[in-house]
Amino acid sequence: MFRSLLVSALALAFAGRVMALQIALGSPLGNITATQMLAVPAGPYVDACASMCNPVNSTIASCGDANDACVCTNDVAAQLVQCEQCMLNSLVALNMKQPDPRVGTNVGLTAFATACTASLGLTLSPAPMLAIAAGWDGPTDIVLNLGATVVVVGFGAVLGSSALFMLSSI
Ligand SMILES: *[C@@H]1O[C@H](CO)[C@@H](O)[C@H](O)[C@H]1NC(C)=O
Ligand SMILES: *[C@@H]1O[C@H](CO)[C@@H](O)[C@H](O)[C@H]1NC(C)=O
Repeated sequence: MFRSLLVSALALAFAGRVMALQIALGSPLGNITATQMLAVPAGPYVDACASMCNPVNSTIASCGDANDACVCTNDVAAQLVQCEQCMLNSLVALNMKQPDPRVGTNVGLTAFATACTASLGLTLSPAPMLAIAAGWDGPTDIVLNLGATVVVVGFGAVLGSSALFMLSSI
């Protein structure tokens, strides 16, 4: 008797749980859901990356926020990496400041993987992450501050850290 009550209580608890990924992006966005991940402000990086981003954007949209298992696949993660990598490359090519924490974001990709693990207990493989942007001239022309902002300032800038640090903070 007690056991069956416990089982139904647990079943109710799970049934009542809202299954939406909590992608922890930190301030100012806070936690976002999967469908908010690519809802980036319009800009030239969106236009430049349409072919890389549109397929994964519509996949995530059709999965919706209530179906984490649909979004948390290695395939979706790989496509998300391609989209974010394209936007990062595009920011660098345009010499443009990161307009939103979701544009060209390595932090966001890691938070996405963490959210999938938290929700489903799975580990995305390979772990989604960005590479150094093609055409990035090296530390002399990008300055990073601790606010996870990439500021491209042209030559003469001072950067006290490595490219790997750059990727860990955008
Ligand atoms: C944001 O997500 C993190 C990780 O999933 C969670 O621990 C935290 O409670 C969430 N914060 C809010 C305000 O929902
Ligand atoms: C994803 O789709 C939304 C809605 O159509 C759009 O506003 C956004 O720009 C798209 N994101 C990217 C990165 O293309």
